[in-house]
Amino acid sequence: MRATHQRLYINVDHVATLRQARRTDEPDPVAAATLCEDAGADGITAHLREDRRHIQDDDITRLAGTVRTVLNLEMALTDEMLAIAERVHPFQVTLVPERRQEVTTEGGLDVAHDPERLAAGIARLKRAGLRTSLFIDPAREAVERSRDLGADAIELHTGRYATTGGGREALAALREAAALGAALGLAVHAGHGLTVRNVAPVAAIPEIEELNIGHSIVSRAVFVGLAAAVREMRAAMDAARGVGAASAGQGATR
Ligand code: PXP
Repeated sequence: MRATHQRLYINVDHVATLRQARRTDEPDPVAAATLCEDAGADGITAHLREDRRHIQDDDITRLAGTVRTVLNLEMALTDEMLAIAERVHPFQVTLVPERRQEVTTEGGLDVAHDPERLAAGIARLKRAGLRTSLFIDPAREAVERSRDLGADAIELHTGRYATTGGGREALAALREAAALGAALGLAVHAGHGLTVRNVAPVAAIPEIEELNIGHSIVSRAVFVGLAAAVREMRAAMDAARGVGAASAGQGATR
């Protein structure tokens, strides 16, 4: 298969985590987004959690006005979040499950639970002209249900792959789910827990068009700076994909 550019969307949530530790105005996730774009990010991802533990409403408004690539808004399917998405009009909405006590998004969306509500939410986002993606576990049933629900894309949860040290079974599940998703006509994304050390096998899965990566890049940025951290990830993805530096920066969907 011809080597293709895989989009790298950077999740800036944890820049906001650092700011919220002191409730000041630095570091600013919006400034971070600009730096990421300058360093080659294809998109910016931010999760407006219901508890507002990191990203704030004003961050989303400012990101929507500042991002030059595309903005991917991660959110739970609630009336409040749907109204925010309609107002700020990001390029893409990724629906994620949320539990208040969790440290991070622990599992994929339960797409079998209340499918009517999910389908209605997706339809509402589509009416607003927004691309929709569902963050799901890499399982056949979840992929098929996502297609039935009318989503444009799925984002495969790579958490199990990451926490099992790149385990073979977890990787096989990602490969199978990616192939099935693409065969069903869904765009396939992936993310969670990816680092420069474990990204290669996931980046090499041909059907995966987009990776959403946050914590490891922001962590690495503390030592080498954000631009260098973004470039390291880009290089790791390109090497895994067999893409030459010449084609870097292409492939954004808008
Ligand atoms: N994708 C989704 C849907 C997420 O919820 C998160 C975490 O907010 C990420 C990707 C990024 O995960 P990480 O910060 O571990 O790279």
